[in-house]
Amino acid sequence: MLYTGPAFSAAALGDGIVELKFDLTGDSVNKLNAAALRDFDAATQAIAKAPDVKGVIVTSGKPVFIVGADVTEFTGMFAAGEEAVAKNVLEVNRMLCRFEDLPFPTVAAINGVCLGGGMELALACDYRVMSTAASVGFPEVKLGIFPGFGGTVRMPRIVGVDNAVEWIATGADKKPDAALKDGAVDAIVAPEQLRDAALALVKQAIAGKLDWKGKRAEKLAPIKLNAIEQMMAFTSSMAVVGGQAGPNYPAPMLALKNMQEAATKGRDEALAIEAKYFAKAAVTPQATALVGLFLADQVVKKTAGSWSKKSAKEIKQAAVLGAGIMGGGIAYQSAVKGTPIIMKDIRPEALDLGLNEAGKLLSKQVEKGKMKSEAMSATLARIRPTLNYGDFKEVDIIIEAVVESAKVKKAVFAEVEGLVRDDTIIASNTSTISISYLAEGLKRPQNFVGMHFFNPVHMMPLVEVIRGRQSSDEAVAATVKLSQKMGKTPVVVNDCPGFFVNRVLFPYFAGFHMLLRDGADFMAVDKAMERFGWPMGPAYLMDVVGMDTAVHAAGVMAEGFPDRMKPDFENTTTVLVEHKRYGQKNGKGYYTYAPDKKGKPKKAPDPETYELIKGVVGARKEFAPEEIVARCMVPMVNEVVRCLEEKIVASPYEADMSLIYGIGFPPFRGGACRYVDQMGAATFVALADRYASLGKLYDAPKLLRDMASGGRKFFG
Ligand SMILES: NC(=O)c1ccc[n+]([C@@H]2O[C@H](COP(=O)([O-])OP(=O)(O)OC[C@H]3O[C@@H](n4cnc5c(N)ncnc54)[C@H](O)[C@@H]3O)[C@@H](O)[C@H]2O)c1
Repeated sequence: MLYTGPAFSAAALGDGIVELKFDLTGDSVNKLNAAALRDFDAATQAIAKAPDVKGVIVTSGKPVFIVGADVTEFTGMFAAGEEAVAKNVLEVNRMLCRFEDLPFPTVAAINGVCLGGGMELALACDYRVMSTAASVGFPEVKLGIFPGFGGTVRMPRIVGVDNAVEWIATGADKKPDAALKDGAVDAIVAPEQLRDAALALVKQAIAGKLDWKGKRAEKLAPIKLNAIEQMMAFTSSMAVVGGQAGPNYPAPMLALKNMQEAATKGRDEALAIEAKYFAKAAVTPQATALVGLFLADQVVKKTAGSWSKKSAKEIKQAAVLGAGIMGGGIAYQSAVKGTPIIMKDIRPEALDLGLNEAGKLLSKQVEKGKMKSEAMSATLARIRPTLNYGDFKEVDIIIEAVVESAKVKKAVFAEVEGLVRDDTIIASNTSTISISYLAEGLKRPQNFVGMHFFNPVHMMPLVEVIRGRQSSDEAVAATVKLSQKMGKTPVVVNDCPGFFVNRVLFPYFAGFHMLLRDGADFMAVDKAMERFGWPMGPAYLMDVVGMDTAVHAAGVMAEGFPDRMKPDFENTTTVLVEHKRYGQKNGKGYYTYAPDKKGKPKKAPDPETYELIKGVVGARKEFAPEEIVARCMVPMVNEVVRCLEEKIVASPYEADMSLIYGIGFPPFRGGACRYVDQMGAATFVALADRYASLGKLYDAPKLLRDMASGGRKFFG
């Protein structure tokens, strides 16, 4: 052995070839944390000093190659400020350059996932061979940053400016074919041939059959484009990338400006420019929020994982009651992910509709080449439509998705509980009704939980698993396990009307209604909230949710929290529902909808809406966008914090992730808790107090006031 460290080892294989193997001790994956990087440098220096070395192959001792840098180190590193960040990445770059400058050829054998910093290490090699089972890419922009270990310098010099911009600005993972086509890797081989292929390549280079020196020289030189070509390449890319990223995600544009500035420079100067721009991106609030989200996602998945482990129960057969919008979606999702499901309704036409919807979704997958037609038939065969309870003895879990009426639901539970086994779990997909309340009257309330999916089921990642007063740990654990198997991210919450997500959404709608009452134009409110980062403003969201559904749910919430959610005025949504404007579902809500060329509903303004609501809105008044944002966001954030105080949701991580995954909270803001952290609790409380006259929804809860006076944050 030439070198053995906690992450890297270097072994002489004979014929002057050294294998530098990355196998991080005590971890299931290879990641470039600070210690691993130091180890990499020590191994490089050991190889440099060793006699008679003629070539190096870089391999991995894990199923992945390198998943990237260690994101858990980012928060501390970025908090140290721009200058410290730049210094830090330059130090890493010096290590990678020392490796790149070794006086013999180097080949990376990419066996599995190779992302971000991992790909940057591979680019420091002269050649890259990739297994057909591997994937490569630069996901950094998803964290509000861009490659900072030389990726923006080496990539355009290897694959050309256009390809490099596409890889770096989109953050997309690349399959082997795409990587080879763009020139990011030099060969693709079957997994079992990877090592031999890397060895063969390095031998050819050693033998002088490959011009590795010429290839390396290109990486060290300025980009081979004249001034006009460069200007053309970067100007057109900037227009596209700027348009796609929008003003809230600055990282892709910073990456491009950096690449443009560095294009005419040799490697070392270019790396200094990269470090300068990287540090700019790293200290943006967006990077803090997006890195925070990545870490929150890990916390949430880990928590779900420990719940799942507690369940010994195997869900072999599921059933869904109701084949409507939600029941049909749940059946599809269960079948796609391999759990057979019985779909029961009381109307044959509903069953047909549910099956047709599933069929349409599957056909799309087949058309896109993502699924074979045999797999489509097998998936459809996993959905068994029925009008009766004949096979319910074999069912392990029943997911109820009938109409949102406590009376109907309770009647259905009473009926079904007598027909299933003692250990069958009954889960309700109710959006608002308390699970403990629905459990009243059940013989086995311990087997009863909430399993709240979001619409459309196949798209929305969140499932709230609601633990009622009497729900057993086993029932919760089995439901979490099934949610994961269905490809969803479950968050366990305690029970109350609306649970977590809807409980905090309705105060937001209340803020919206008050704005309209006080004379705001609903289109101006939508515009301000969309600028803030929501995928759609509150009026548009009402239309998509369904206004009748929203009015009904608001009633349940008002009953649950009368002190602050019972309105003392008639709101615009109720009036529109009285005029049978239900939103997208019947083509008319706040806006009107007509199918576009692709058959998707396209929204248009409708003067009639203003006519209909004029009796319940004040004289038209201009509100500054910041005031609109504050009046909508303060009630939501206050309610999030009340849910934390009451332990409805266990942690700020789970709260923020639920909002991102459940209702599309702007990701670059990181969630409601992060929003408060970035504004400062004291500023937030002062903002809330400014609107105290609007009612209790604007009264900042104790936890926030304590945080404000103690200068505390939710995260760190
Ligand atoms: N639509 C949403 O956005 C959404 C989101 C999350 C949760 N939910 C909840 O999911 C549930 C279903 O909502 P939906 O939008 O799918 O409603 P829907 O009206 O589209 O479907 C309800 C279906 O239940 C059927 N049904 C009624 N009584 C039944 C019974 N006794 N047995 C079997 N089937 C019966 C109806 O025939 C209908 O097909 C509600 O509790 C709702 O609050 C809805």
